[in-house]
Amino acid sequence: MSNNIVVSAKGMTKRFGKTLVFEDVTLNVHKSEVVAIIGPSGAGKSTFIRCINGLVPFEHGTLEILGHTITGGQKHPPRAVLQNIRTRVGMVFQGFNLFPHLTVMENIILAPMEVKKVSRDDAVRRAQELLDIVGLVNKADMYPKRLSGGEQQRVAICRALAMEPEIMLFDEPTSALDPELVGEVLAAIKRLARQGGTMILVTHEMQFAKEVADTVVFMADHRVVESGAARQVLENPKSERAQQFLQRVLRPTETADEMDAVEAQGGDAL
Ligand SMILES: Nc1ncnc2c1ncn2[C@@H]1O[C@H](COP(=O)(O)OP(=O)(O)OP(=O)(O)O)[C@@H](O)[C@H]1O
Ligand SMILES: [Mg+2]
Repeated sequence: MSNNIVVSAKGMTKRFGKTLVFEDVTLNVHKSEVVAIIGPSGAGKSTFIRCINGLVPFEHGTLEILGHTITGGQKHPPRAVLQNIRTRVGMVFQGFNLFPHLTVMENIILAPMEVKKVSRDDAVRRAQELLDIVGLVNKADMYPKRLSGGEQQRVAICRALAMEPEIMLFDEPTSALDPELVGEVLAAIKRLARQGGTMILVTHEMQFAKEVADTVVFMADHRVVESGAARQVLENPKSERAQQFLQRVLRPTETADEMDAVEAQGGDAL
């Protein structure tokens, strides 16, 4: 694996029983690269991202991640390997899974202290820096239930970052949020990306993908149909399947714009 490549998937295939989830997925992720995975529901995006940190085993192909090689069909990759990967790969998925009985600060410092044996002082200092980045320094002593959904999700991002992961995985981190809270979470992720973090994120937010991602991977019909530079894939997709998908997901905004234009002209919509 080249020094610069931190994740390399080669011909990965995953089934649940007889159900094919994805096949022959090949993908390289370089250090500091932001990769957005897009595509219709059921394409296998979430399952793929879970395979990357060893949460879900796969049948065929190989996955090289941070110097480890996991081979498809291996029943259980060695525990030590999985543990090493999990301490180096941070994850934020759509539910807020903060510990309800711990304050924001305690949620963030727990893993660094327990797993990485960081001193409490250092963990607290780092947590304050992270909370500052996501605009939540003044919430450190609150319990999760007193925070809005967007605030909880930003704390979840801090908690993952507190482990100083080399790679961050996001699976639709905003999909459970009210629309008005989406922006603040995306802004926090964008800031991380600008600081050079390596990220793989599954998102349905195409505008966000365009702004934050270097590379876009379009998954559909259980495979990677197209991948390339973010702008190229999103604005000028080569495959008909991606063209269809993007037309469908982008249409609502276009229609809204058209309606606005009609209204601005004082006309009846339709
Ligand atoms: N634990 C499981 N057991 C059996 N089948 C599963 C399991 N998890 C996912 N699947 C199936 O695998 C396929 C891909 O699911 P996955 O969640 O990866 O899709 P996705 O692309 O993330 O979709 P969405 O955009 O809706 O989140 C689906 O057909 C799903 O039903
Ligand atoms: Mg999913």
